[in-house]
Amino acid sequence: MDSKLKKLEDRVALAHIGGGQKRIDKQHAKQKLTARERIKYLLDEGSFEEMGVLVTHRTTDFGMENEMYFGDGVVTGYGTIGGRLVYVYAQDFTVFGGSLSETHAEKICKVMDLAMKVGAPIIGLNDSGGARIQEGVRSLGGYADIFFRNVQASGVIPQLSAIMGPCAGGAVYSPAMTDFTLMVEQSSYMFVTGPNVVKTVTNEEITAEELGGAHTHASKSGVAHCTSANDIACMEDLKKLLSYLPQSNKEVPKNLPYELNDEVRDVLKNTVPESSNKPYDMHEVIEGIIDEESFFEIHKDYAENIIVGFARLGGRSVGIIANQPMFLAGVLDVKSSIKAARFTRFCDAFNIPLLVLVDVPGFLPGTDQEWNGIIVHGAKLLYALSEATVPRVTVITRKAYGGAYDVMNSKHIGADFNYAWPSAEIAVMGAKGASEIIFRKEISVADDPVKKLAEKEAEYAEKFAHPYRAARRGFIDEVIFPENTRRKLIKTFSMLEGKKVDRPKRKHGNITL
Ligand code: HXC
Repeated sequence: MDSKLKKLEDRVALAHIGGGQKRIDKQHAKQKLTARERIKYLLDEGSFEEMGVLVTHRTTDFGMENEMYFGDGVVTGYGTIGGRLVYVYAQDFTVFGGSLSETHAEKICKVMDLAMKVGAPIIGLNDSGGARIQEGVRSLGGYADIFFRNVQASGVIPQLSAIMGPCAGGAVYSPAMTDFTLMVEQSSYMFVTGPNVVKTVTNEEITAEELGGAHTHASKSGVAHCTSANDIACMEDLKKLLSYLPQSNKEVPKNLPYELNDEVRDVLKNTVPESSNKPYDMHEVIEGIIDEESFFEIHKDYAENIIVGFARLGGRSVGIIANQPMFLAGVLDVKSSIKAARFTRFCDAFNIPLLVLVDVPGFLPGTDQEWNGIIVHGAKLLYALSEATVPRVTVITRKAYGGAYDVMNSKHIGADFNYAWPSAEIAVMGAKGASEIIFRKEISVADDPVKKLAEKEAEYAEKFAHPYRAARRGFIDEVIFPENTRRKLIKTFSMLEGKKVDRPKRKHGNITL
């Protein structure tokens, strides 16, 4: 019996050193942790249960039968984070560069299938040279098996990806189809074709970091939702992100214990400047409303004219979408519409209520925007919010102009409760632009056109640059003092907790992709 036990012990020990100490040292020298170390930092201590530890590849080409590693380059299993069940896979770069073989893919599919059956999040830690080159189409098939599952799981269980090393070729498409992609700065990159192919095809000289590093994807492409300074920070970010999410679409996120208190926040009294053209940081409004230090921003460096992220409000997990007057005056454009639309759909799929903070001068004009399809992309946000059935509350802090008023969670597209601050201006456009159009003739024949314009501007502002016409129509439910916003919102979201909406039966809508 002893020898049989020893045999098992030896095999597990071999699995635990992956591709061997030399390759582990190489991994550490690049400031990267191994797959098992990453899992250790991610999961509650002692909670990890591994699956498929003795799996090996089945390839016999190119002498591969002589090079086998238990686990085949991916550590898979389940464990807990803050006591909550999660499924996890971590690619082991020390085994064939973490490349994906048929069996490697089967292991990932197995945990994905379990996550779907049980209804718990799946977290993938990616660090891989892509398709196992020695396996050819079997490896490609393995990728497609994963892609198919990503799509089946979409909107059913949260899927989180961390990119912690190379991620190239078709391998990028699994993370792309998950809900959130986090990238580690300086040690990870993602691209469909690498710098060498780029040089051959387009003659561009570019480094891997510039082409597809964390900073590039966080600021230019939007492929990365967040970046983390290193592997350990990335595991902490994953945990924090997960804390706002439910286990599956059948559940709601857990409320943290909270008792309604003195919720007046005087800091909000003076956030919006007197002049309606002066910028201010919408982050200050967010911080003034939410539970302390609870904001987890998504796409922080991408399309900064809109802010999206998760927060706690009276202990409740909420998704926040907010125009940012500090960037491009908070206009809606192609990128910000797509960013906010995708965030809306995630929150709606996973029963996370939405808070929309509005200070928007309209859509960005210009050929660049028109030729890049602001019509269909802007419609994405309109569509996503109109479709969302989670509790939806709006606060207009200042401008709500034109079509953007409709889009930004107006009452007309199904918002449940719409508040405005006294500084709100709800109109087709700003007073100056409006006066220039509708009083053009009068102004042009005036003795002093500048003075006339100013008079007309003041007249228009008096009529429209406030929330009271909208309030009279019931498009705004209540005009509130800014310092009371937090209290109002805590109570409103609590009141909306039981909201249930049925939509017409259909296979699926046809969002303007
Ligand atoms: C098999 C691989 C491998 C792969 C790396 N290795 N990639 N083995 N298949 N795809 C092995 C190496 O042979 C090496 O083995 C070990 O992993 C570490 O690789 P190094 O090159 O020494 O590491 P590094 O210098 O850090 O470079 C990492 C790398 C590079 C940039 C990822 O290895 C690389 O370019 N690999 C090929 C990438 C690629 O073209 N993949 C296919 C993409 S196409 P030893 O024994 O020395 O430790 C694709 C299609 C998917 O993925 C389509 C899905 C639809």
